[in-house]
Amino acid sequence: MNRIISPSLLAADFGNLQREIEMLNQSEADWFHLDIMDGVFVPNISFGMPVISAINKLAKKPLDVHLMIVDPDRYISTFKKVGADILTVHYEACTHLHRTIQAIKAEGMKAGVSLNPHTPVALLEDIIHDLDLVLIMSVNPGFGGQSFIENTYNKVRELRAMINNSDSTALIEVDGGVNDKNVVKLEDAGVNAFVAGSFVFKNDDPAKTIANLKTVK
Ligand code: DX5
Ligand code: ZN
Repeated sequence: MNRIISPSLLAADFGNLQREIEMLNQSEADWFHLDIMDGVFVPNISFGMPVISAINKLAKKPLDVHLMIVDPDRYISTFKKVGADILTVHYEACTHLHRTIQAIKAEGMKAGVSLNPHTPVALLEDIIHDLDLVLIMSVNPGFGGQSFIENTYNKVRELRAMINNSDSTALIEVDGGVNDKNVVKLEDAGVNAFVAGSFVFKNDDPAKTIANLKTVK
């Protein structure tokens, strides 16, 4: 399967967002990763609906929206309206996860679940066949630019086995500290999609960095 690269706009230059979006449109990026933080589920606040709408007007690729918010059910239809294609909620933020996933799909979006570094993969056993995507956090959510947690490889291998042993078609995405040094080992462990924030945007040539992430062996 083709490696999917989803640059995280959290690390982009917000003063020049249009330029950053156009760069991603022209690049080999597959998706736009948008990190939504509420200051409650994570100790940071990022951006919300008006900014997502503005991005959606310019972006020519799917919006991969990662919700780091409590009680995401309140806003599922709103995220659809502002342009989300993939909507990922946190396992730790959902009391009735099955209901939340069904609500996301009923809106016509792909449904993802994200796991914090401390949350075991095994907790997904009874929901895996309903998911389009599992987002494994390889840092503690809330900030870009943190270092990759090595135990992620074990979690990915376990999740890959769970998916292959079920009728699930879920993609595995990894988020946090991804760079050209760990992408191949992650792919070998079973990852399909890679979020990269600072590695892409803090580079002098982000488009070239994306192309490199896409093809590095
Ligand atoms: C962290 C976010 C990530 C973040 C990744 O809470 O979910 O998407 O932007 O940034 P890097 O690639 O810099 O670790
Ligand atoms: Zn993210």
